[in-house]
Amino acid sequence: MSPESTIRERVLTIHGIESSGDWQEEVARAFAPHFESRVQRFYGYRTHRPMRPQQLLAVSVVLGRENMAFMDASDLYAEDFGPFDGRVWLNTAHQGPLPRVAVEAARAALEQKTRPHLLRDEDFFEVPRRLRAALGKLIGAAPEDIILGNSTSYGLDLLANGMQWRRGDEVLVVDGDFPADVFPWSILRNQGVTVRFIEARAGLVDPQQLALEISPQTRLFCTSWVNSFSGYAIDVDGVGQVCKRNHVIFVLNAAQGLGARVLDVQNSPVDAVTCCGFKWLCGPYATGFCWLASALRESLTIRHAYWLTMQAGKPLDKMRDYSLRNDLGARVWDVFCTANFLNFMPWTAAIEYLLHAGPANIADYDQRLVTQLLQKLDEERFELISPRTGPQRSTLTLIRPRKAEQAAAWHKRLSVAGFDVAVREGNLRISPHLHNSQEDIANLVEALST
Ligand SMILES: Cc1ncc(COP(=O)(O)O)c(C=O)c1O
Repeated sequence: MSPESTIRERVLTIHGIESSGDWQEEVARAFAPHFESRVQRFYGYRTHRPMRPQQLLAVSVVLGRENMAFMDASDLYAEDFGPFDGRVWLNTAHQGPLPRVAVEAARAALEQKTRPHLLRDEDFFEVPRRLRAALGKLIGAAPEDIILGNSTSYGLDLLANGMQWRRGDEVLVVDGDFPADVFPWSILRNQGVTVRFIEARAGLVDPQQLALEISPQTRLFCTSWVNSFSGYAIDVDGVGQVCKRNHVIFVLNAAQGLGARVLDVQNSPVDAVTCCGFKWLCGPYATGFCWLASALRESLTIRHAYWLTMQAGKPLDKMRDYSLRNDLGARVWDVFCTANFLNFMPWTAAIEYLLHAGPANIADYDQRLVTQLLQKLDEERFELISPRTGPQRSTLTLIRPRKAEQAAAWHKRLSVAGFDVAVREGNLRISPHLHNSQEDIANLVEALST
């Protein structure tokens, strides 16, 4: 019996449904009363549609009729993405795919621009409002504390240019980190600021090492949550506590973490979080946001004043009020053209989709994919560079061919076989997310073994 038919029989047995003919129809009818309520909301489904046996079984679990251990969620999310033209996208650390709901939102934005009469004045305020609300919910922040940007670098740039630096101030960064975490501070050298690299294995600074590295001159420490080249994740709480104790501003680049890991800024010792939207948050390219603790935000020198932000809450037919407002909070830091319809509408839909699915559920699911990959990886052939287990393990798995073969050759071979992974610093980087199924990982493992 095939796994599909085993699951099918199991679903039918559990629910006492007599199967004749179109069994999917029968099962769907049996579940219909629930579709409008818990199940739909739990998975973020907007419409009724045929479900796969695995999904039906997962539905049974949600309804409390089956044992959790038997749940096979492998295709729960995958069907909300794609199509991928028969390929397997395992490179979220580069670009996360748009979920279908986000594609629909992008189409709506395109439609508005095709027929501009569809664009209402209130949309200029509603689009950023809704995005701020979704991002606030994602990181446990008040929506009015979210700064809308276009990249990870946006938040770093506004800090570097908004802080009042003194000659002799020191910024600590990590040797081996992504360059976005270094350049914004490097240009401060002409103001007498020192940028010092911490030497750290795998680009990972632990709290003890950081405590030793901090000097009386250190003003700020900036690091990635997850290192793009090693896949190691830092101990945010531990590192943040060290910074707090030493009155050092802790800037967290969440680009390779948020969306695959859970962050609650109210309960984390972070002063600033900056993130792009186009990786684990599954948004379009050129999206991002930043959150700053209010004391830090209020200490910054404001260096731009954007007319549409100054207009917030006022009608667009009355705009010749040139007084500068000081009641805008985080909004004064927003990127210009905050109602970036083509980007922000799909990004909002993507984040709302992730919120529906539940960030903790996604984190669990992603980790299951990583576990599956690592359990089956042929380690005679590949050396594992990223962590095998524990809190330092992320959703970025880095492996290096042991023989003389180059990662680039494997990259090509995998690409020909339909698997899209990345090569970074001589290693293969595999970064699955919720759009991938367990079948994707099983197929990849097989491709890596042949
Ligand atoms: C850790 C990290 N930060 C930042 C970025 C991208 O920076 P930005 O969003 O500013 O283009 C990447 C990857 O592209 C990254 O891996």
